[in-house]
Amino acid sequence: MNKLKWWQKTNVYQVYPKSFLDTTGSGTGDIKGITAKLDYLKTLGVGAIWLTPVYPSPMVDNGYDIADFTGIDPSYGTMADMERLIAEGRKRDIRMVMDLVYNHSSDKHPWFIDSASSRESEHSDWYIWRDAKPDGSAPTNWRSIFGGSAWTWCEGRQQYYLHTFAEAQPDLNWENPAVRQALYDAANFWLDKGVGGFRIDAIVYIKKPAVFADGKPDSDDGMVNIHSMIANTPGILDYLHEFKEKVFKGHDIFTVAEANGVAPEDLDKWVGEKGAFDMLFEFSHVNLEFPDGELWSHATGYTPKVITGLKQALTASQQATAKNGWYPVFFENHDQPRCTAHYFPADADKKLAAKAIATVLMTMRGTPFIYEGQELGLDNVAWNNINDYNDISSKGQYFLALEEGRSPAEAMELVHRYSRDNARTPMQWTKEKNAGFSTGKPWLPVHEDYARQCVEGEAQEADSVLSYYRQLAALRQTGEAAGVLQQGTYMELLRENPAILAFKRHFGCREVYTLVNFTGREQAYVLPELKEARLLMESIPGSRKGMLRPYEAVLYIKETGEGL
Ligand code: NOJ
Repeated sequence: MNKLKWWQKTNVYQVYPKSFLDTTGSGTGDIKGITAKLDYLKTLGVGAIWLTPVYPSPMVDNGYDIADFTGIDPSYGTMADMERLIAEGRKRDIRMVMDLVYNHSSDKHPWFIDSASSRESEHSDWYIWRDAKPDGSAPTNWRSIFGGSAWTWCEGRQQYYLHTFAEAQPDLNWENPAVRQALYDAANFWLDKGVGGFRIDAIVYIKKPAVFADGKPDSDDGMVNIHSMIANTPGILDYLHEFKEKVFKGHDIFTVAEANGVAPEDLDKWVGEKGAFDMLFEFSHVNLEFPDGELWSHATGYTPKVITGLKQALTASQQATAKNGWYPVFFENHDQPRCTAHYFPADADKKLAAKAIATVLMTMRGTPFIYEGQELGLDNVAWNNINDYNDISSKGQYFLALEEGRSPAEAMELVHRYSRDNARTPMQWTKEKNAGFSTGKPWLPVHEDYARQCVEGEAQEADSVLSYYRQLAALRQTGEAAGVLQQGTYMELLRENPAILAFKRHFGCREVYTLVNFTGREQAYVLPELKEARLLMESIPGSRKGMLRPYEAVLYIKETGEGL
């Protein structure tokens, strides 16, 4: 019997609305554009769409700076458009998942404007205000995640306010019960509209330490990354459980929280029946090139160690979520470079690389999250000048790298490899101008390769990345492998092999085997248990047991006789 919930059986698709489809010629994607493509998303087995923020925003951080938690930004359309999207989605069994950005608001939010106006204002303590040090400098040496001090001086109050991210994203004061209630009310507003879940942004930062103190500098700027000073501060779980109680509990929805660095022993309080959320996005498998923090200039770049790191991280997450909660499988999102560049050497065959990741994404235990354009195998961009980039974080990291002595060319290389804009270029629909994304001037340039990789073209090609994703989606949801892929246990295979990622899923009387070669060399392997297995899917025609060609991915299925 299948006891899974709807969101454990479906695929989730992440839409970056600004870059999805522009129906007005403004150059910016909109909500009507998402509604127009629901049938397309259905072909990928999608049952939920995670919308990155569509609320009114000055767009300093592309919507993660919210000026009204219960509105729609006019550039995206109206509340009526949103209601229609929810309704049209429902007709197709596709539910909308809203992004709750509750660690901070925009500095243009009326709460902050009031808070900044005086120490006596109604919202005076809705944000985190501190006096300057005796010499007038910032209260601590914390560096914000986007670079520069995490404190900004406010003339009106003669005090500094804290911002974990950009200056335009002041942190909300969760100690204040009125703040928490206002945020819960906003989330309940969206539940009343009929949304199917929430992705909760940057939640590990909401609780601040009781004492604010300087940290040991981690770079030449004399500052320390704020993450190491405030993430997962004890006491945070009280807020999260209150959040669940007042908002999520009793609804047929799912929640997935962006929460890096939660200790395995705390996991049961964070996820699952007794936990605050259903799933956690953690980043051990995407931050492999950042062993000592988040500074781009300290990254290792691609090395073959990425493969063993990836194997270890994925297995650790699978083991952790076997008992607690459920795993949201993902390799891309709007903050990551494209996976075709991320996990493979620069000269890798991009199409096979995209299929290799697709195979892992869609056959692990958990709910697969496909990021806009990933299903086409899109690759990174490499623009010439930092001013060509829109992403606030890329700019911060670029200038910090210069400060640390990198040459402009070296700093640009880092931008090319890690910029969030790599994944934010407009979606590629057709071979027409601007890839069919917009009739106007796109807010960010379309990838130059769009005519080769677009939905229109790939839908016609049997061996395209899109067709491959569609086959995997069908395999996961219907037919002989569906039960195993949805519910089966996970067991890592070929653990010591430095080139092949392999695992077995098992449920009832069936097993499904996933084998992926992450290198550009042919790799032999020995797996006697495959003897009785049949080929289920292959990324290159003509696969052979015991051997994987460069970047090849294969799936086998086996009847075990047990559980009949
Ligand atoms: C995480 C989001 O995914 C990212 O895009 C954003 O910049 C920060 N949180 C700040 O909200």
